[in-house]
Amino acid sequence: MENSRRNFLASISMLAAYSAFPISSFNFGTSKKLRIALVGTGIRGTSFWGKRLVDEYSDILEFVGLCDINPGRLEFAKKFIGTNCVTFVDFDAMLKKTKPDLIIVTTVDSTHHEFIIKGLESGFDVLTEKPLTTDETKAQAIINAERQSGKNLIVGFNYRWSPYSTKIKELLANNTIGKITSIDFNWYLNTYHGASYFRRWHGLKDKGGSLWVHKSTHHFDLLNWWLDSDPEEVFAYGSLEHYGANGPFRGTNCRTCKHKTNCDYFWDITKDKRMMDLYAANEKHDDYIRDNCLFREEIDIYDKMSAQIKYANNVTVNYSLTTYSPFEGWRIAFNGTEGRIEASLDIPYNKKTDVTQAEMHAKEMEQNAMEEAEAETIIVHKLWKDYNTVLVPFERGGHGGGDKRLHDKIFKTQNEKDPYERAAGSRDGVMSAIIGIAARKSIESGTPIKIASLTDIKPSANRT
Ligand SMILES: NC(=O)c1ccc[n+]([C@@H]2O[C@H](COP(=O)([O-])OP(=O)(O)OC[C@H]3O[C@@H](n4cnc5c(N)ncnc54)[C@H](O)[C@@H]3O)[C@@H](O)[C@H]2O)c1
Repeated sequence: MENSRRNFLASISMLAAYSAFPISSFNFGTSKKLRIALVGTGIRGTSFWGKRLVDEYSDILEFVGLCDINPGRLEFAKKFIGTNCVTFVDFDAMLKKTKPDLIIVTTVDSTHHEFIIKGLESGFDVLTEKPLTTDETKAQAIINAERQSGKNLIVGFNYRWSPYSTKIKELLANNTIGKITSIDFNWYLNTYHGASYFRRWHGLKDKGGSLWVHKSTHHFDLLNWWLDSDPEEVFAYGSLEHYGANGPFRGTNCRTCKHKTNCDYFWDITKDKRMMDLYAANEKHDDYIRDNCLFREEIDIYDKMSAQIKYANNVTVNYSLTTYSPFEGWRIAFNGTEGRIEASLDIPYNKKTDVTQAEMHAKEMEQNAMEEAEAETIIVHKLWKDYNTVLVPFERGGHGGGDKRLHDKIFKTQNEKDPYERAAGSRDGVMSAIIGIAARKSIESGTPIKIASLTDIKPSANRT
């Protein structure tokens, strides 16, 4: 146990691979487990960063504190996660009392910076969920705090860890199609998953930074990592044309709505005990309505988004995100000097499947990755040659198998060298969120936005 804790503590700066400051000094020599304090006991905090850690790694780690502004959710979380640790509604009190080895941040996106900065400044290492943050001022404040504290920040970019994404990285790193020149990248959220963002805080720019940041940070991080280069300039269009005030009617929330029978988006939360226990039972504390109306007038994010991104290595990217597609999936094409790579997942017309869109959403959201491996394909088409099909084992649950691999890397196999450098730190967090922030600013101003104008990190043609 001590060995595992020591390994974790010694290697945290490697996990935060792109931290400005490389190493923290840790107090070795105790026989304690790794002590974790978590803030934000919602669905992600209680399941992936809560119960799954207790279920899979309790031989080497323990929760010493849980914090949330909602006392009801906090109590539910404690039982659901299966811990006896102390609970707090005050983050500062939690830090003072528990003195953890690691703080995990799983709160609403626009609040991440508060806990990251306080944690680092108080002398603790921090792991945050994506997106790192929602605007450039907060991003700069996080960068400064990490530099000044000498502590480390890990960003939980799970998509990098799926075998499918990793295979693309391997093909590109091996120069399979020469030097990459341009990319077409389209992401389709279906009417279950896409709609879910408009039901709650994600529908407000000042909570999630819009889906440009909340959702696309995953995709932009993949691009940055696949290309091994930084973004330089972004131009974007976006509008809200389907959800929000565009809806044909609106109600207070689905449960009580008089339009239940004629709304295609009606969602019966009362059939999901976990959702009822975590959210509905605790509405009285903070008015957080999980099955809120997705046609609320206050919704101010975009549901149709498209951007052009120019990278420092001269690659140009056409990117789009759709939030009301009949199917959930994505496709990407890399054009290179020696050919083309095409990759896509879940495009229903490409292969026969008996999984419905509703089931797909449920499985995608499943926080404990299921061992349901299928083979997926990547096409490698060299100039003047016939194309080759590369087969990749694929798991549907836990974000394509990325979730559990990310956990193993952080808590089990820290010292194993990763040729794909999938561990992500603050620089990766900034450089992915900043593309979405730039896209938002581009829509607001009607002009292209230079990435270098947003924080003091200067884009580099080669990240490593
Ligand atoms: N990597 C992934 O694939 C993935 C998947 C889901 C969610 N996430 C991220 O996880 C985070 C949480 O998402 P979620 O879906 O669990 O949201 P959620 O709404 O279920 O939970 C958020 C929790 O934070 C609490 N909170 C809000 N402000 C707070 C504050 N100031 N102090 C303390 N607690 C506060 C809320 O009460 C709530 O319990 C988000 O940042 C989200 O982007 C990542």
